[in-house]
Amino acid sequence: MFDLVSMRAGLAEHYDLAPNPELAASMADLYARMDRVVSPADWAIAAPYVAAINALKKERDAVILAHNYMTPDIYHGVADFVGDSLQLAIKATEVKEKVIVQGGVHFMAETSKILNPEKTVLIPDVAAGCSLAESITAAGIEEMRAKYPGAPVVSYVNTTAEVKAASDICCTSSNALQIVNAMESDTVIMTPDQYLAQNVANESHKNVVYWPGSCIVHEEYKAEDLRAYREMVPDVKIIAHPECPPSVVAEADYSGSTSGIIKWVRDNKPAKAMLVTECSMASNIADSLPEVDFAKPCNMCPYMKKITLEKVLWSLHTMTEEVFVDPEVSDKARLAVQRMIDLSVKLGI
Ligand code: 13P
Ligand code: SF4
Repeated sequence: MFDLVSMRAGLAEHYDLAPNPELAASMADLYARMDRVVSPADWAIAAPYVAAINALKKERDAVILAHNYMTPDIYHGVADFVGDSLQLAIKATEVKEKVIVQGGVHFMAETSKILNPEKTVLIPDVAAGCSLAESITAAGIEEMRAKYPGAPVVSYVNTTAEVKAASDICCTSSNALQIVNAMESDTVIMTPDQYLAQNVANESHKNVVYWPGSCIVHEEYKAEDLRAYREMVPDVKIIAHPECPPSVVAEADYSGSTSGIIKWVRDNKPAKAMLVTECSMASNIADSLPEVDFAKPCNMCPYMKKITLEKVLWSLHTMTEEVFVDPEVSDKARLAVQRMIDLSVKLGI
C-alpha cells in the first residue's frame, strides 16, 4: 500500500508545497483551463505541485502522458499529452524524452514500456489497476482458444502484458469494431470486456465470442435510470462509453471512446449532456465548452483516482515506480499492440 505519510514527509524536505495564492495567480493561464471546476482555494493548493512538477519534468527529461480520466489539475496543469488509450499508445511511440510518466492506470504504463523498452516508464502508484485487466490471465486466453479453435484473439488494451502476449492483436474502444471486422475468420474471440464485445457484435457481421470481464465503472449504469433521466430532461444528449452494457448504449445518442466522446460533444455542443462514463471527463472539458451544461450523475474510477498531483511529483522526484516487463513477454505483446496501431493507421482511425 502507498505510504502517504512517508511520501509527504519526503516531499516536505525538498519542496515548499504550502498553498500559495501568489504563485497560483502567476499561473493564471493554466488556471483558466479549469476555473469552472476547480475553486480558487483548490488552485492555490495545487499550484506549488504543478510548478514543481513542470520544473522537474525538464530536469528529468520527462513527459507526462495522461488519460482523459485524470483529474483537471493533472489533465490541464502538468500533462504534456492527453488522450484515450489508442492515442496514448500511439503517442508513446513518438515521444523523444527519456522518461515517460503515465498519468493513468498500470496497463497503460505497461503498454508505454512495451512500445519503448529502452525508456524509463514511471507510474505514480502501482496500485492503479483496472477491473478488466484483473479479470483475465494468459491461461484464460488459452481456454478461449481451446473452446474456439482457429479463432483469432482480439484483446482490449485493458489487459496485462502477459495477456497481450498471448493474443493475436489488441484493440481499444476507438477501433474495436474495425479490428474485429478486419479479422479473416468468421468467429472472433474478444477479451476481456463482455460489454465492449457485445456492443461490437451488435454492429459487426462476425460471430463475436467473449470473456466475461467487465469495467466496474461502466457496468453500474442502468438503462432504466437513463430513460428516467431523459424523461425529466427531454433535451439532454446521452453519450455512453462502449464499456457500458448494450442496453445502456442503446439509450445513448452517441457511443464512443473517451476521445470520441469529447469530439462528439465539441462538434455538437448540446445544451445539456450526460456523459455516461468516468466523472473527470466532464470536468476536463467543462471550461472549453461553457455553453454545455453537464448533467450528473457520473461514476468514479477508483483506480484512475489513485493518480494524484502529489504522487506525480513524488514519482518524478524519486523516479519510482519504474515499470518493467519481461523482455520475452514484451516482444510478443509488442507484436499485438503494433498490429493494432498499424491496422488503425491503415484504416485511418
Ligand atoms: P478509452 O480508450 O476510451 O480512453 O478507454 C479506456 C478506459 O479505461 C475506459 O474505461
Ligand atoms: Fe478499468 Fe473501468 Fe477504470 Fe477504465 S474505468 S481503468 S476500464 S476500471
